[in-house]
Amino acid sequence: MHRLLERQLRKRFAASPPTDERFSSFLVDIDTAYAANDTDHNLLERSIELASAELFERNERLARDLEAIQRLELELRQSDKLRAVGQLAAGIAHEINTPIQFVGDSVGFIGEAVRDLLELGQAGLALHDGLKARGIEAPELARVGAAAQTAGVGELSSDLAIALQQAAAGLGRISQIVQAMKQFGRPDQREKELADINRCILDTLTVTASEVRHVAVVVTELGELPLLACYPGDLGQVFLNLIVNAAHAVGKRFQPAGGLGEIRITTTATAEAVVVVIADNGSGMNREVQARIFEPFFTTKGVGRGTGQGLAISRSIVVDKHSGTLTFESTPSEGTRFLLTLPRASDDASSRVEASGA
Ligand SMILES: Nc1ncnc2c1ncn2[C@@H]1O[C@H](COP(=O)(O)OP(=O)(O)O)[C@@H](O)[C@H]1O
Ligand SMILES: [Mg+2]
Repeated sequence: MHRLLERQLRKRFAASPPTDERFSSFLVDIDTAYAANDTDHNLLERSIELASAELFERNERLARDLEAIQRLELELRQSDKLRAVGQLAAGIAHEINTPIQFVGDSVGFIGEAVRDLLELGQAGLALHDGLKARGIEAPELARVGAAAQTAGVGELSSDLAIALQQAAAGLGRISQIVQAMKQFGRPDQREKELADINRCILDTLTVTASEVRHVAVVVTELGELPLLACYPGDLGQVFLNLIVNAAHAVGKRFQPAGGLGEIRITTTATAEAVVVVIADNGSGMNREVQARIFEPFFTTKGVGRGTGQGLAISRSIVVDKHSGTLTFESTPSEGTRFLLTLPRASDDASSRVEASGA
């Protein structure tokens, strides 16, 4: 019998409950009803429990989705900003390119003209000295002598040579920077090629050997990779930037004591992507620097050593041209690890161009 019914009977009839048949069958009915009520109650409780667990989970999922959306929005805004600055830089580079060429041509021409004029000056001076030695006097001769003395023809020729050389070197550097800036925002017309990323890395190491050798030991762990549809030249530039940055960072940490750091390059292939890790045990970066390294023109290096464009360009090459990712982790005084993924499926630029051309 249900314990509630039992208690009620006891309270009502104490020691002498009625014993007639109709009352007994009535009791059985009530007992059944109590039991049914219990079952319903339990069921209801279970389903409320289930529903609230589901609600809780859904709520958690929504919170997670919201967080992901906010993060994505932030990334999008950041990459929009980078793209806008990049396009601006590309536009400016394009504008600067032509006048730089004028100036370059003019400096070249001035250099040749100055050399010719100096030679004329020296010939004139020799003539002056020769005639004077023979005792010939004339007002024109005196003028040549005075002008030669004022100009200082001797020093002038060596000073001018140095100045012209410096101007040419400066122009060379400017046009290098301008060329690099033009990379931004320019839609790539070329087709992707199948390339071996390991080969690409080894080639880059050859090019950077002189820069790296005196600061770091390079360790390579190159896994077996499939050929990747990509822009190998552009990726070479990305590897170059990352390796040179790593060399600078280990140089900064170890150079003062005269030791060598380590740059470790690892490649692996997953089902979806080729993954390249370039890690160094160099100076690392603090939070403020970490937040800004992908900004165009952000650099912590001195003039002539850094342009602040390397990572901005690298990011644009990896993310925009190859639909890949470029991320990093860094600890001050311990080192930095850049992780690059390049998706194997080529559902991006090149196939889009084909699709829209068809
Ligand atoms: N491996 C690294 N270790 C420490 N700092 C780095 C590393 N790579 C990049 N950085 C920081 O990021 C900045 C921007 O890098 P980058 O865009 O290549 O420009 P640049 O090398 O011309 O300064 C660097 O000036 C440096 O402060
Ligand atoms: Mg750099």
